[in-house]
Amino acid sequence: MASEVRQRAKAQSASPIGPLGIEAALEAKANPTIQPRPKIFDEFALTDRVALVSGGNRGLGLEMAIALCEAGARVVYCFDLPKEPSEEFIASREYVSKLGNNSRLEYFSADVRDQALLWKKAEDIGNKEQRMDICIAAAGILTAHADCLEYPGEQFREVMDVNTTGVLFTAQAAGQQMARFGNGGSIILIASISGSVTNRDHAWVSYNSSKSAVLQMARSMACELGMKKIRVNSLSPGYIYIQMTAAYLDKQPHLLDKWSSLNPLGRIGRPDEFRGVVTWLASDASTFCTGSDIIVSGGHTSW
Ligand SMILES: NC(=O)c1ccc[n+]([C@@H]2O[C@H](COP(=O)([O-])OP(=O)(O)OC[C@H]3O[C@@H](n4cnc5c(N)ncnc54)[C@H](O)[C@@H]3O)[C@@H](O)[C@H]2O)c1
Repeated sequence: MASEVRQRAKAQSASPIGPLGIEAALEAKANPTIQPRPKIFDEFALTDRVALVSGGNRGLGLEMAIALCEAGARVVYCFDLPKEPSEEFIASREYVSKLGNNSRLEYFSADVRDQALLWKKAEDIGNKEQRMDICIAAAGILTAHADCLEYPGEQFREVMDVNTTGVLFTAQAAGQQMARFGNGGSIILIASISGSVTNRDHAWVSYNSSKSAVLQMARSMACELGMKKIRVNSLSPGYIYIQMTAAYLDKQPHLLDKWSSLNPLGRIGRPDEFRGVVTWLASDASTFCTGSDIIVSGGHTSW
């Protein structure tokens, strides 16, 4: 009976790169001609994968795109608002082209609020590459403080449109291609700790609400797409020094000490501290992780 259950459990799924861990050890014991070798980094490899990244012209989106390229992705298509890519994108594209692993960074201009355009662009990518494996929905905006009792409707709708609706449109565009090619995929929605807790002394009701919606969007999409082997998770950064937050920090330097004091590590984060987690979420190292929110915040929400 126990072995029948074991057989059924094994029939449900197998590691795409063969036996791992204890199973690999037992296989090597049974067959001494097998030469054991480390496989843990093979699980993180993104060799030949195709990715779509919104907000990829700079900041966390671009940082994560470079990580996917370093992990071996065939190509990472970044899109953002500007017609032409930024200087840092151009430098990053050149850097990737010199890595020696044939990975590419590409740029196109699109607004995440344009559903039809995103669907079409993703379809064109699917036609060209014949696959779609990874999506990172990183485009987002943070607007100035405004009292929640008098929050301007237009401003609220704008933040929700970009941070929530735009994330859905991005995930749809990539997810349709993942479903089309039938290889599954990993969709990573960039949320924020602001979706779970309120940033102390900041009147950001629109941003906080928009990010909270992204957390539930990830769970909801994960439940709908699980049987297609499309995983959907959210990733929630804490305070990171980058253009979006620099707009606040550079004008109010005292905020650096304040924000740093709000987590147990006593500092704000670096954008490159998302390289590992995003590669893990995108790769076969996280094949049983879906519908989760991964918080990377220096422990901000632990207090
Ligand atoms: N920096 C932080 O401390 C922090 C913390 C938590 C969450 N986040 C989230 O991380 C994500 C990336 O932010 P970042 O810190 O790199 O900020 P950023 O401002 O550097 O990057 C955001 C990018 O989104 C793009 N964008 C905005 N509106 C768009 C639209 N309508 N269509 C297409 N692209 C659009 C911007 O042009 C920009 O390049 C955002 O979703 C943000 O909310 C950031």
